[in-house]
Amino acid sequence: MKVAFYDTKPYDRECFDKYGSLYDIEFKYYETKLSEDTVRLAEGADAICVFVNDTVNSAVIDKLVAMGVRIVALRCAGFNNVDMKYAFGKVHVLRVPAYSPYAVAEHTIAMLLTSIRRIHKAYIRTRDFNFSLVGMTGFDLHGKTVGVIGTGRIGRAFINICLGFGMKVLAYDKFRSEGLDNGDTVRYVELDTLFRESDIISLHCPLTEDTYHIISKESLERCRDGVVILNTSRGALVDAEALLSGIKSRKVGAACLDVYEEEGDFFFEDYSGHIMDDDVLARLISMPNVIVTGHQAFLTREALDNIAATTVKNLTDFVALGRCENELCFRGSTAEDCGSGRCF
Ligand code: NAI
Repeated sequence: MKVAFYDTKPYDRECFDKYGSLYDIEFKYYETKLSEDTVRLAEGADAICVFVNDTVNSAVIDKLVAMGVRIVALRCAGFNNVDMKYAFGKVHVLRVPAYSPYAVAEHTIAMLLTSIRRIHKAYIRTRDFNFSLVGMTGFDLHGKTVGVIGTGRIGRAFINICLGFGMKVLAYDKFRSEGLDNGDTVRYVELDTLFRESDIISLHCPLTEDTYHIISKESLERCRDGVVILNTSRGALVDAEALLSGIKSRKVGAACLDVYEEEGDFFFEDYSGHIMDDDVLARLISMPNVIVTGHQAFLTREALDNIAATTVKNLTDFVALGRCENELCFRGSTAEDCGSGRCF
């Protein structure tokens, strides 16, 4: 089986070669992202393998179908970069629903601690033998209230870590998890209560029409002064301009962002020798209380191994059985994990 692999990074190849060779899958690696201009590289392939910033829109899907490529294997969980409604009946979309929720949850807490204990500042100061503590005052996490939006795999792993710190958790989810609310340290609340009563807000929901700009000018106004915003989910959950205004007005005490609304233009690439065209991103990065990482929350050895193993299993299952438990299917306007091969 031949698979055109877009947006390849050196750390992808080791695991994909390992699992691909076990199942006679030949990955043809391309560094370029998938777009209308690059889709032709998939000519002759049986499937394509794509990541978070590859574009699978209607034009790309039409070209894939014209070339006879009917399988789109996402090597990630989120699928907001795929026009799922258009894909229905044309291409099969497979994904990796979970690879290491701990990787993302642990990165989120790493960013939070770095920010509120000023570790990023201390690292730079002490390398210059500057041992002054002025401006380094942080705050305890113990006893603070964290609002967690999205209590799926990553949200729950993050909540467990927060409970270890002695924090109180206010949770919000469109579909609540049984047994999570203990009426004490973890309580499900309405979104308005979460905004009003949280010291820290962490986003762990997917990007959908409902959640687009869930952190906005209007929601920030309802938050506590000095609220800390954590986003390791998807960039467009946060209105970046509203966040910047909130930081300038001191409403937002700190922000930790592993994702950014317009990240597709920059993230995963080295722009250190270039002029940054995105003024909002440049201004955010210039703030002493903003920490940005380049969508690296998933990047652990364990997660990379699981991503490759699951993607290869998805492809081999689909070819052998005509179905795969990780197929995504949108019928009309309804999203459902189909997994039955009924889509076509
Ligand atoms: P999951 O599917 O296990 O959990 C997502 C939760 O969000 C579910 O409980 C769901 O009910 C909830 N949800 C759906 N719509 C909602 C809404 N309108 N409001 C509130 N909650 C809603 O997914 P998982 O594995 O926990 O991943 C969460 C997100 O993390 C993914 O959607 C993805 O965007 C992001 N992610 C980021 C990574 C990174 O490297 N930064 C890596 C992996 C995932």
